[in-house]
Amino acid sequence: MHILVTGGAGFIGSHVVDRLVAAGDTVRILDALLPAVHRIRPEVNDAAELTVADVTDRSQVEAALDGVDAVCHQAAMVGLGADLDDLPAYATHNDLGTAVLLAAMAGRGVRRLVLASSMVVYGEGGYRCPVDGPVCPGLRLPADLDAGRFEPPCPCCGRPLESTLVTEDAPLDPRSVYAATKVAQEHLAAAWAAVTGGSVLALRYHNVYGPRMPRDTPYAGVASIFRSALERGEPPRVFEDGGQLRDFVHVHDVAQANLHALRYPGAPGELIPLNIGSGEPHTVGDMASVLAQAFGGPMPVVTGSYRAGDVRHVVASSARARDFFEYQPRVAFSDGVNAFACDPLRS
Ligand code: UD1
Repeated sequence: MHILVTGGAGFIGSHVVDRLVAAGDTVRILDALLPAVHRIRPEVNDAAELTVADVTDRSQVEAALDGVDAVCHQAAMVGLGADLDDLPAYATHNDLGTAVLLAAMAGRGVRRLVLASSMVVYGEGGYRCPVDGPVCPGLRLPADLDAGRFEPPCPCCGRPLESTLVTEDAPLDPRSVYAATKVAQEHLAAAWAAVTGGSVLALRYHNVYGPRMPRDTPYAGVASIFRSALERGEPPRVFEDGGQLRDFVHVHDVAQANLHALRYPGAPGELIPLNIGSGEPHTVGDMASVLAQAFGGPMPVVTGSYRAGDVRHVVASSARARDFFEYQPRVAFSDGVNAFACDPLRS
């Protein structure tokens, strides 16, 4: 196939490009090489054709779509960001960029899209109350967090909740600017599919880590923040009590999921969301300890402090992706994190 990978010089996109090239696909990359992510110019796969341009640039996007069968849209600003000064940049890169891409695809007759979405569209993960059954907890209150009460209570009866796997039919509850832009991307892509008869697979990545992860910036995930601290000789600083659950999925598994998704025909006129996780929930405390151990210390410090807006537990059910295209994560947590202790981070 002839595939355009937007953001193909980035952390996840570059692994997708490598897989596609290895599988014999013809790959074109459109990447703005944003300085917030790329402090130095990254290497890209020689076999791919690189256009350095922003996805908001309609004429460049149209040129990049020439002869393309499918688009893998990875270009985005990710993470929590620095502050609300970032808001216009998030909306521009993520939502205006997606709108320009979709309009150009409609004009050029390209009908297949794989969209990089995120588990942040859910807000909190799945929860069950022993009395009220499945529930969606609200925002955690500062008074509770200050007192070290990190678990969100049942919104109906206040009892403690059990964390459950989040499935794709969970309500959307974006709780950050980034999350709001990811929800908007999905909605724009769904509207595009309905009008054009195109098909979209929205891959809701859980917490991705692995080689080429950017060094810690306000836009980096926790694995990179911990790894960068270790490189500086500092202990990873674990927020809350370290018991928050995440689904840490290795970038090689995420790249493979993209390869499968690009080959899957999808449903004309529809957007299908699919969780892409590891099937192996771990706490943030586990991530810090296993990584610190593999790096040779220093061991993590659990701070008891918290980050405003963070959710407590999010763990994926990846059953739907498994049913659709036999998605099977292969990198076990201990193997992936031990290797990540030595993996090069991107500067
Ligand atoms: C966040 C972002 C999301 C992004 C994802 C991966 C939101 C609300 N969250 O999700 O945009 O897709 O990162 O990049 O938009 N932690 C520590 N110590 C630190 C930093 C973080 O203990 O130094 C904890 C956090 O409190 C959190 C967990 O690690 O509980 C995971 O943090 P992070 O990697 O930022 O991921 P998410 O919050 O899951």
